[in-house]
Amino acid sequence: MTNTRFALITGASSGIGEACAVELAKKGKNLILLARRAEKLESLKSTLVKEYGVEVLVHVVDLVNIYEIESFFKGIADRDVDVLINNAGLALSKTPFEDYKWEDFDQMINVNIKAFTRVAQLAIPHLKKTKGHIVNISSIAGIEAYEGGSVYCASKAFVKMISKALRIDLIGTGVRVTDIAPGNVETEFSMVRFKGDREVADSIYKGYAPLSAKDIADTIVFALSRPENVNIEYLLIMPTAQASATRTHKV
Ligand SMILES: NC(=O)c1ccc[n+]([C@@H]2O[C@H](COP(=O)([O-])OP(=O)(O)OC[C@H]3O[C@@H](n4cnc5c(N)ncnc54)[C@H](OP(=O)(O)O)[C@@H]3O)[C@@H](O)[C@H]2O)c1
Repeated sequence: MTNTRFALITGASSGIGEACAVELAKKGKNLILLARRAEKLESLKSTLVKEYGVEVLVHVVDLVNIYEIESFFKGIADRDVDVLINNAGLALSKTPFEDYKWEDFDQMINVNIKAFTRVAQLAIPHLKKTKGHIVNISSIAGIEAYEGGSVYCASKAFVKMISKALRIDLIGTGVRVTDIAPGNVETEFSMVRFKGDREVADSIYKGYAPLSAKDIADTIVFALSRPENVNIEYLLIMPTAQASATRTHKV
């Protein structure tokens, strides 16, 4: 990881994306941070610039809007990006398939699949130039379906499969592709999923030690810092007390 190049992190305003920004800044990496919440991004930027002296560019983009993604990439055309952490994503609700609000399905498909794909596609010319590294964030939900998880699980299976396909399409370019699949990580994820219901969101993480966002970020930094001939292709990272998508030992 060199100093004049940037890591682009989607969903950098909280959780895993924010933790990646912090851990990469500690290593002296310049950052391009993308999300919708400007204040969160600006406050993270001022902390990282002050504490680690890195260059941080903040871009407020709603990934649902493909044109915003395209204009964002036009704006960073002259930057050297050698890392993409394609992280932004969400689950909305946990409901039987037929009862789901279409708007929730639509939002998950737009962010987790469509925006994810367009971001990867537009980042590839940068990454080919720099022989860079794509880190995709899938999930345990991408390999195990669970009750009420339909479209979210399917969207994460998409991330897993497209990561494998990208490995094939990018062979010979020097670009590495890593798929990180976490189990339960305590972030804003459950507050978003349960639409601000703090009690339900907190219950997901009670009675055991979930993963922290930093646990995932540390692993991503490890994958990024392997020598050029080493590609960590897929890592499933679970809390010790979680053995499957639906089996968590709680005390
Ligand atoms: N937490 C877990 O247990 C867990 C487990 C497995 C996989 N994951 C995956 O990890 C990734 C990160 O999630 P997290 O746990 O860190 O959750 P989080 O704290 O809710 O972070 C999600 C990030 O995505 C951004 N985002 C969501 N919708 C967006 C949009 N329309 N446009 C731009 N940015 C958007 C959010 O920023 P703004 O709201 O500011 O836009 C936020 O920065 C997701 O892909 C998630 O599916 C999480």
